[in-house]
Amino acid sequence: MNPLLSDSVINHDSRIIVALDFPDEKSTLNFVRNLNPNLCRLKVGKELFTASGRSLVEKLMTQGFDIFLDLKYHDIPNTVAAACRTAAEMGIWITDMHTMGGRRMMEAAANAVANYRNRPKLIGVTVLTSMEEGDLAEIGINRPINEMVLHLAQMAQQSGLDGTVSSAQEAKILRQKMGDSFLLVTPGIRLVSLNDDQRRTMTPIEAIRAGASYLVIGRPITRAENPLDVLVQINQSIM
Ligand code: C5P
Repeated sequence: MNPLLSDSVINHDSRIIVALDFPDEKSTLNFVRNLNPNLCRLKVGKELFTASGRSLVEKLMTQGFDIFLDLKYHDIPNTVAAACRTAAEMGIWITDMHTMGGRRMMEAAANAVANYRNRPKLIGVTVLTSMEEGDLAEIGINRPINEMVLHLAQMAQQSGLDGTVSSAQEAKILRQKMGDSFLLVTPGIRLVSLNDDQRRTMTPIEAIRAGASYLVIGRPITRAENPLDVLVQINQSIM
């Protein structure tokens, strides 16, 4: 057994979700070989799913990993409900949709998976963390971002969704307003301040203290010289 994986660092309910932003199956499986399902869950997003699809997701699940299928559905209720039903049949752990698809879309999705044993948790994207108030104004939404995020999170909860994916910087207010059982999945996590495309970042411990349920972490782990070391360190920092 790898000495890094002593009992003190194995966390059978890890709150870290590693974002597998890789272009193909080969590089993904090569990377995942060094991980351990006791230390993290995995996120498959649009790039990797478009390239390698369901068969890769199933390979990752066979290795024991919980999968967050991050395809951010935004379509008519019937189509999103059918996609969520397929995710339930695959045994997906979490999947997501844009809350701006509206109440009827979210209700249809929640109803579609309600009767599955171990159904996927459904979470809603509120306002993309890449958007600023000017971007919202341009599409005709003239409300402060925080107010809009809270409004959409409340709609998601009323429609039967389990939580939201949002910036860790919104976690504190969402945790206060939405209650303890609402899932808050937060990307934009940085171990130190980096000069990359993420702007509204937090460290793992800051995000957990703010009320995040799970942390989505990509490049700080995927581009590390020793990803397993970093994963172990982050797990220890949030225990
Ligand atoms: O590499 P990094 O840690 O920035 O990766 C963050 C991951 O979270 C990426 O897969 C990105 O697509 C995703 N994400 C995000 N912001 C959102 C929703 C998802 O960064 N609002």
